[in-house]
Amino acid sequence: MKKVIIQDKEFKMSILYVNIKRSIERMAFDINQDYEDKEILFISILNGSFMFASDLVRKIKGPCQISFVKLSSYVNGESMGTVSELIGLNEDISGQHVIILEDIIDSGMTIEGVYNRLKKQKPASLKIATLLFKPQAFQKSLKIDYIGIEMPNGFLVGYGLDYNGYGRNYEDIYSLNEL
Ligand code: IMP
Ligand code: MG
Repeated sequence: MKKVIIQDKEFKMSILYVNIKRSIERMAFDINQDYEDKEILFISILNGSFMFASDLVRKIKGPCQISFVKLSSYVNGESMGTVSELIGLNEDISGQHVIILEDIIDSGMTIEGVYNRLKKQKPASLKIATLLFKPQAFQKSLKIDYIGIEMPNGFLVGYGLDYNGYGRNYEDIYSLNEL
């Protein structure tokens, strides 16, 4: 079994790129059907979703646009709480058919925050597409419209996902080997 080591952790092969690709093709097929007569604005959440976004949009048939946003967390001076802000969204999304692209949904905290922020800008429609979804970890009632692969709890790296910033470059996905 193929393994990789990143810093102090060992990860074992979990999802081969051929299977990632197949699940993305299935998702693109569904999106192409659902948006047959509509233009899509994809909003991809960096850094993790860059590979997923790149493979997905290449399978989209109709006219579409793609934009990238980032979540920057900063410590709020007054409350001392951590607030994350969406940065990099320059276009006006009001009246547009938006699909958010995320690499992985775990507790759902991140995607819920992004969803609520974008919803305020009054898109014509707003959907969520994630490559990976951990149903056992998910704690929100938000509807996840397109799911590539469901995974058990456990930390994953590769295909955009990182451990301390490393491992994003692998084309396959690896899971933490907890011995
Ligand atoms: P959530 O807010 O708990 O749903 O977590 C989502 C975010 O945490 C994702 O955008 C990832 O950046 C990160 N994340 C969650 N699970 C993993 C994982 O298994 N590997 C790498 N990053 C992860
Ligand atoms: Mg992410």
